[in-house]
Amino acid sequence: MEYSCTDFKVGKCEGEKVVDGETMPLVLQPPESKKGDFESLLSALKRNKEWFEEMIIKSSAVLLRGYDVRNAEDFNEIIEVFGWDDIRYVGPAPRTHVHKRVWTANEGPLSEFIYYHHEMVLIKEFPKKLVLFCETPPPEGGQTPFVPSFRITERMLEEFPEAVEEIESKGLKYTFTALNNKDTSFSSSSFSSMRGRSWEDAFGTSDQAEAERRAKALGMDVEWLPNDRMKTILGPRCLTKVFDGRRGRRMWFNTLVGMYGKTHSSAMMANGEEIPENVVKRCEEIIEEESIQFDWEKGDVLFLDNLALLHGRRPSLPPRRVLVVTCK
Ligand SMILES: [Fe+2]
Repeated sequence: MEYSCTDFKVGKCEGEKVVDGETMPLVLQPPESKKGDFESLLSALKRNKEWFEEMIIKSSAVLLRGYDVRNAEDFNEIIEVFGWDDIRYVGPAPRTHVHKRVWTANEGPLSEFIYYHHEMVLIKEFPKKLVLFCETPPPEGGQTPFVPSFRITERMLEEFPEAVEEIESKGLKYTFTALNNKDTSFSSSSFSSMRGRSWEDAFGTSDQAEAERRAKALGMDVEWLPNDRMKTILGPRCLTKVFDGRRGRRMWFNTLVGMYGKTHSSAMMANGEEIPENVVKRCEEIIEEESIQFDWEKGDVLFLDNLALLHGRRPSLPPRRVLVVTCK
């Protein structure tokens, strides 16, 4: 199935890459003969729903560009065309509900880089698709870089075949420590960004027993530390994962680099053994080398296959408003 669709024209964007024969992202625009108004877009999506979904899986990332998508209401209508079920966000990022299924993306300080991750990778049920809409493009920076996950596994296997298989067979364990709302260290910068929510906010309760129950329901173990800090422990978790319909690709489905050796988080093998630092450092470099990014334009809608891509957020100058929907 090639681009046999007359309702869209394949465009280009600066920063796109060809990975294993697929252009990422696949840019879809209005054909010359047709307009980019919102109603035309909706009917084109309705006519080509299945084709469009295949393109998301095939290219891992599809960017709708050149359409007059104005706000959260429009964005929500686009999502409704596909009928994908919603999946409620669980995690440390501060987000605000905007309209129906639409939320703000991470509201952590724009000056900070939000490190690459598969959305909700540590939660039992994670979204298959992540859709982002750019309402206000930043004047500088603020890209949403993404990374073909299978490429990380391939390159790590080339350089560290034994370490990769050892971590895979033993599994990973993560820890993360959350402060409580009253803790004065909260204003320090290390706690102010995406990892900055208190356990009360993260679990939606100020009752310790209830927070613990909710954490356990998500598959986490809990330890309470002095000053009412909550340490959550997750594991064993996989290093890589193969999903149906993704050409047998082995995805780097973990958050090892993001959590390893940080002040408030750690990653190790599930039996407690340390992972060599040089392996993690090299992995960080490889992820950056494999990343793909473009500058946001107003009205852009980006569909990401969350099973196939890691994504992050570059530091940005204000203002920047990117909205998100997560789907099953
Ligand atoms: Fe994310």
